[in-house]
Amino acid sequence: MQAIAGKKIILGVTGSIAAYKAVYLTRLLVKAGAEVQVLMTPSAARFVQPLTFATLSKRPVFMDVTAEDAWNNHVEMGLWADAMLVAPATANTLARLANGICDNIIAAVYLSARCPVFVAPAMDVDMWHHPSTQANIKRLQSYGNHLIPVESGELASGLEGEGRLAEPENIVAFLSKFFGVSQALVGQKALITAGPTYEAIDPVRFIGNRSSGKMGVALAKAIIEQGGEVVLVMGPSKLQPQMNGLTLIRVESAQEMYDHAVAQFPSCQVGIMAAAVADYRPLDPAQEKIKKKGDRMTIELVKNPDIAATLGSQKKSDQTLIGFALETENGEANARGKLTRKNLDYIVLNSLRDPGAGFGTDTNKVSIFGADNKVVHFELKSKEEVAKDIIATTLTKNK
Ligand code: C5P
Repeated sequence: MQAIAGKKIILGVTGSIAAYKAVYLTRLLVKAGAEVQVLMTPSAARFVQPLTFATLSKRPVFMDVTAEDAWNNHVEMGLWADAMLVAPATANTLARLANGICDNIIAAVYLSARCPVFVAPAMDVDMWHHPSTQANIKRLQSYGNHLIPVESGELASGLEGEGRLAEPENIVAFLSKFFGVSQALVGQKALITAGPTYEAIDPVRFIGNRSSGKMGVALAKAIIEQGGEVVLVMGPSKLQPQMNGLTLIRVESAQEMYDHAVAQFPSCQVGIMAAAVADYRPLDPAQEKIKKKGDRMTIELVKNPDIAATLGSQKKSDQTLIGFALETENGEANARGKLTRKNLDYIVLNSLRDPGAGFGTDTNKVSIFGADNKVVHFELKSKEEVAKDIIATTLTKNK
């Protein structure tokens, strides 16, 4: 369902008894991470209160092109949306849309929309089979609109047959499929570490590195898009990721990252160690700001715990653990060494020698080594694309 995460969806609800199903549909869309703007016809509002939709979508519901004290900009809404979905679509609404009769806000937005439009009809069996309705459906399809097929069964009239609104889950699945992302990670939870760590020298100074956290966030997004859930344990990064399906745990030091990662990993099927964890920390950080004194100063460092290696030692057979290696020399040998030493299933090597790869950049060039000795090399790509390659190579290859 998460293929629709981040999508802006206009949901037009029209006056059918099936309008109650649009409540659950709204809930599912929001849960899947979509932004949902609900529009209703006045007759839909006789079946379900607009307040119900407004509460679930966290947006005001519009029922009229002109509200009491404002003009609801249907052109803007039409351009805003990534998809417009009319569900339930009554015979009347289908006729209206098919013929360009623009006498309510749903029709006005429909005529303004440049995004894909989906109609999910709902009506009695005879109304559905009427040549007039079927002609309207054909007409809408000829405009490129998508029909979400009606389902068959008992109807509100007591009759049996075709005309039931598709079940909300099926409507969401239809949209997900349209947006073309596989849902291979449904039910999977991934722990991702990302960003740098800051190791305190004193209350104002730290040892850190230039990691941006972008690769970890791109991985989180790609996993969520494929239906998975993510716990992202992230060091100090400027990024503020917010996605449904994402639990963000902010940390500063390697020790804090370690504590959270160790606590989270047992409930995850996947661990991706994308953080640039400081290998050492000051042994004894000063409680007060260190004053300038002599020409030289020494800070004694002590080794940080290795998160990847710890999780590797605790890993169960149904868990997959992926690490990263950033090398300036002997990339392949070092990466393979870490793969074995830390008991990883895969290691993603990015070389600092490749322009555009590694820290802070928006792009990356990686090779993925498997514990099975297989290796796959990729071209320089955006971190979003690299994230998809990593997932396809390590997590969804057999799906
Ligand atoms: O040994 P090295 O730091 O090069 O290994 C890199 C991999 O190990 C990365 O996946 C990194 O996130 C992880 N790592 C870790 N904890 C550390 C050091 C590295 O999880 N203390």
